[in-house]
Amino acid sequence: MMMKQANPSTLFTLDPSRNYPVLVRGKGVYLYDDQGKQYLDAAAGIGVVAAGYGRKKIVTAMAAQALELPYVASNIFGNVPATRLAKRIARLMPFDNASIHFTSGGSEAVEAAIKICRQYFFDRDMPDKHILIGRQTSYHGATLGALSATGYAGRRKKFLPLLLDWPHIPPAYCYRCPFDDTYPGCDLACAHALEKTILEVGAKKVMGFIAEPIVGAAGGALVPPPDYWPVIRDICNRHEVLLIADEVLTGFGRTGKLFALEHWNVAPDLVVMAKGISSGYAPLGAIGVNRSIRTFFESKQMPLDHIFTFAANPVSTSAASAALDILEEESLVRNAAVIGEYMFQRLETLKKYAMVGDIRGLGLLAGIEFVRDISMRTPFPHQAGISKLIAGIALKKGLVTYPGTGVADGTAGDILSLFPPLTFTRDHVDEMVKKLDATLDEVTGIIT
Ligand SMILES: Cc1ncc(COP(=O)(O)O)c(C=O)c1O
Repeated sequence: MMMKQANPSTLFTLDPSRNYPVLVRGKGVYLYDDQGKQYLDAAAGIGVVAAGYGRKKIVTAMAAQALELPYVASNIFGNVPATRLAKRIARLMPFDNASIHFTSGGSEAVEAAIKICRQYFFDRDMPDKHILIGRQTSYHGATLGALSATGYAGRRKKFLPLLLDWPHIPPAYCYRCPFDDTYPGCDLACAHALEKTILEVGAKKVMGFIAEPIVGAAGGALVPPPDYWPVIRDICNRHEVLLIADEVLTGFGRTGKLFALEHWNVAPDLVVMAKGISSGYAPLGAIGVNRSIRTFFESKQMPLDHIFTFAANPVSTSAASAALDILEEESLVRNAAVIGEYMFQRLETLKKYAMVGDIRGLGLLAGIEFVRDISMRTPFPHQAGISKLIAGIALKKGLVTYPGTGVADGTAGDILSLFPPLTFTRDHVDEMVKKLDATLDEVTGIIT
């Protein structure tokens, strides 16, 4: 008889070389592990737990719904919590008469948005339109369609033969301008790259352009110049290309506006949402589409040929309604704007460290980029693993942050992202910056 090999772990964790601390509890903006250690969560999970931990209002709504009706097949029945939430979110969209389709998370929402675009043009007798343009420094999800749209080289590398060959234009990244230029003299070459690519591919083949209004964890909070988004909108209009705003991280108040594109008064054609939508109490994603897309499906009586088993889940949508109540009752969008401003003032003090090259972002979404040589903006070599080292030491000091690499050239370029709960106060910011200061002090001692 074959002896089974002893298996050290039955849970298939992401990184088998790591011993992950095990969390058992959360309260407010703090997390606790099974050793009783406390962490200040400056990452809100991964930009998810906007309302903070231990919110009874959300849990009560979920429990009541689970008892009443936990699941509904969305291709056979409607359900009250999903219909109610759709009505509410539709009113928050940056365009009138929106309609909302629910999924279980961000990647699924991106997949559904891609299929909506494709089907929209296919059924309008424009079947050649099938190409989606993305940006080089971006993340849109882990599934193969969403990863095809993603530009983040490190996440794509191993899966390249499985991905669709879609183009990616350079990002709006002024600290390391891909065109080696400076705003405003650059004449927004990064935005005009979209038109160039549409013309190269052929407008009749391009169905959409997807981008994060402010690049989140893939770029460390890259905020574009003021006229970037209006120029992009104009290019999409002129070539009949649908504009998909990936607001998975930036949506629901993260940047100090309900949706980040509001900073530039630009309305996309589709908005992709997840993360903060349900504050992490239940998996949920959504796509908001503008009236003309939905009207087309309706006028032709055309079903969307796409279904996820857990779409429009009544427990998840109940959680999201309660999370939205909290967002409104506690003015968390405004709090993100006000506390965000304070956060950026306090983060500036970290510039005393020679390794801090850039600090950027908006609201409660911040990125710190680390460099080996500040005047030349030279990144640390990828192998040095600087951002992981920083995040690891911060974690030991009881601070949760989100590290990333590859922002400079696809592999090198270390960043640390901060996207804390929207309930953060000035005191929390002070505590976070104090811990970051102690972390960078220790890291400086290690690398010099
Ligand atoms: C901007 C953006 N889009 C899409 C996704 C994918 O969402 P999910 O991980 O929920 O599938 C993420 C996740 O981090 C994201 O940040």
